Order: sequence, then structure tokens, then C-alpha cells
Amino acid sequence: MSISTKTSSPQPMRRIWNTPTSGARWLWLALSLLLYTVIFALYLVAIKTQAFPGPFNEPLLGFGIIAFLLVLSTAAYSLRRRFARSLPGKAQAWLWMHTWVGMAALLIALLHENFTHILHNYCQNFSCFTNAYWGTTALLALAILVLTGIVGRLLDTWQAHNIARDASTNGVGIARAIEERILELEYEVERLSAGKSEPFKEYCLQAINMGASFNAPAPRLDAREMPDFQRAAETLKTRQQFVLSLQRQLRARLIIRIWRYVHITLACLALLIITFHAVMELLANVFHILHL
Ligand code: HEM
Ligand code: HEM
Repeated sequence: MSISTKTSSPQPMRRIWNTPTSGARWLWLALSLLLYTVIFALYLVAIKTQAFPGPFNEPLLGFGIIAFLLVLSTAAYSLRRRFARSLPGKAQAWLWMHTWVGMAALLIALLHENFTHILHNYCQNFSCFTNAYWGTTALLALAILVLTGIVGRLLDTWQAHNIARDASTNGVGIARAIEERILELEYEVERLSAGKSEPFKEYCLQAINMGASFNAPAPRLDAREMPDFQRAAETLKTRQQFVLSLQRQLRARLIIRIWRYVHITLACLALLIITFHAVMELLANVFHILHL
């Protein structure tokens, strides 16, 4: 999730928060579409001209190899993001590659296995998932992964929008700035309640401890304490609004963090199964090294 701010506005209260867009979105979409169109044309020719088109024969066998290479390229985003940040291109552009190439990999894998068990020859028993070196399981794992990826991108856009809207309307900005502001307001309350009566101090302490849910009536105080109490109560009210804003932004971040955890765990599992299928098929049916 990336949020940036345009600083051209002179008033910090009216900053515009937005997610940066990238030309890479269209470039990778066009490349993926082109590849898929070429492969789909080859697929149509194969199913019209071959008696038994399937993953054993070319060109559908080759589609499996291409799908595998695309899955590896998709996973390479992690390399750019974590391990090899010096790789050329912006992370944002790599994420668009990740998105479109990941989807193309699934569509090409479907052509590779000629939609077996998906549109015909439906699975009758468990062996269907382990046959052909776990081919069907590899396909399902890829499909689930791509689906969680799409859900995640939508969630990311939605939550980034929520944070952006909150950050542009709360008068301070994103979480760290809110935390700093809350601290400043707490110091202010502390200053106002120093040397005051117990009910005054107790009220302020409770308001700070209970945060956004605090809703107690004002205590009975000596008239001399009233001006400072009113200022403290107003400061606490402002603080309460910032606490609410912080909670909203942290919730949005948590949703994205949980989703990323799910997607990355699934990605590791899916990569394991897909690699197993691809390597075994390469050894058995392409290089003819394995004879099981
Ligand atoms: C190096 C890459 C790959 C090669 C060489 C390859 C090769 C093959 C071969 C030879 C078969 C037929 C095997 C049999 O029926 O015993 C097959 C089936 C299959 N492959 Fe691949 N494949 C590759 C990548 C992939 C990928 C990336 C996926 C999807 C994620 C996939 C999904 C399938 C499925 C679903 C079947 C059909 C399984 C069945 O009929 O039960 N393959 N593959
Ligand atoms: C072959 C299929 C895919 C694989 C193997 C895969 C794998 C991964 C991995 C390993 C990460 C973690 C990157 C990191 O933080 O190191 C990731 C992140 C992500 N993936 Fe995928 N993914 C696939 C498909 C997709 C698809 C199709 C989409 C969207 C339509 C998608 C959207 C995302 C998003 C939004 C992130 C988080 C980006 C970030 O926070 O930097 N993924 N994916």
C-alpha cells in the first residue's frame, strides 16, 4: 500500500493524498495480453488439428513450461521488494508485472492441461489431485493464489483510499503524525491539570486511559479551576478525535497486513507444488531422465 502527498498546496490541512499510478500497468497488461493471444491462437490450431491434444504433446506441453516460467517471474517481485532492491525499475512497476503476469500464468496453465477436470473429465476421487505429479493440485493452488492476489489488490486500493481520506480530513495526516499530535495534547492536559484537585486529575487520567470510549460527566470543581478544566476538556475532546482517526488508520493497515500474510503463505505452498509438478514433468516427459 503506497500513499503519497502532493505538497504544492500551501495549507497542510488540505493536502491531497493519493496512490501513485504507473505507465507500467498498461505496458505489462499489453505484453501479457499479447502473449496470451498468441498462445490461445496456437491452442485453437492444436485442438482443431490434433486427435488427442493434451499436456503430453506440443504445443500444450510447451504452454506448461511457459506457465511455469511466468509463475517464477511473478514470484521474482519478492526478490525486487526484499532481497535485490538494486534491480532496475520501480517496485510499483514490478507489482504491475506481478499482477498481470500472474493472471496470464493461470490462463496459460489452463490451456496447457486443456481444461481437464475443470470443464470435462471431472474429478471422481482423490487420486485426481495426485495424478500427473500433482498437476491438478498445482493448477488449483495457482488459481487460489491468483484469486487472493486479485482480492488483495482490491482490498489494498480500498484501504489505501480509506487511509488517504482520513489523513486528508483529520488535519494532521497519517498514523505517525497523529501519534505525535496525541502526545502533544496529552502534555497539554498534563500541564493544565498540574497542581489541581483530585477530581480534576482523575477526570483527565480516565479520559486519557479510556481513549475513544470515554464519556463521563464533568466533575464538580472549585470555580477557580473551571477555566483550566474547560481548556483541558476541549483538549481531551480533540485528542479523542485523533484517537478515533488513529484507530481507523491502524485497522486499515491491519487488514492489509493480514491479507499479505495469507497471500505470501499461499504463495510459498503453491510454488512448492507447482515446482514439484514442473520439475518432475520436465525430468520425465521432456528430458526423459526419469522413467517411473
Ligand atoms: C515445466 C513446466 C511443465 C511441464 C513440463 C508440464 C508437463 C505436463 C505433462 C507432461 C502433463 C501430462 C502428465 C500426465 O498426464 O501424466 C501435465 C499435466 C498437467 N499439468 Fe503440467 N507441466 C508444466 C507446468 C504446469 C503448470 C505451471 C501447471 C499449473 C500450475 C500445470 C498443470 C497441469 C495439469 C492440471 C495437468 C493435468 C493433470 C491431470 O490430467 O490429471 N503444469 N503437465
Ligand atoms: C503466480 C502467482 C503469484 C505468486 C507466486 C505471488 C507471490 C507473491 C509473493 C511471494 C508476494 C510477497 C512479496 C514480498 O513482500 O516479498 C506477493 C505479494 C503481492 N501479490 Fe502476489 N503472487 C501471485 C499472483 C498475484 C496476483 C495475480 C495479484 C493481483 C492481481 C497479486 C497481488 C499481490 C499484491 C498486491 C502483493 C503485495 C504487494 C506489496 O505489498 O508489496 N499476486 N505475491
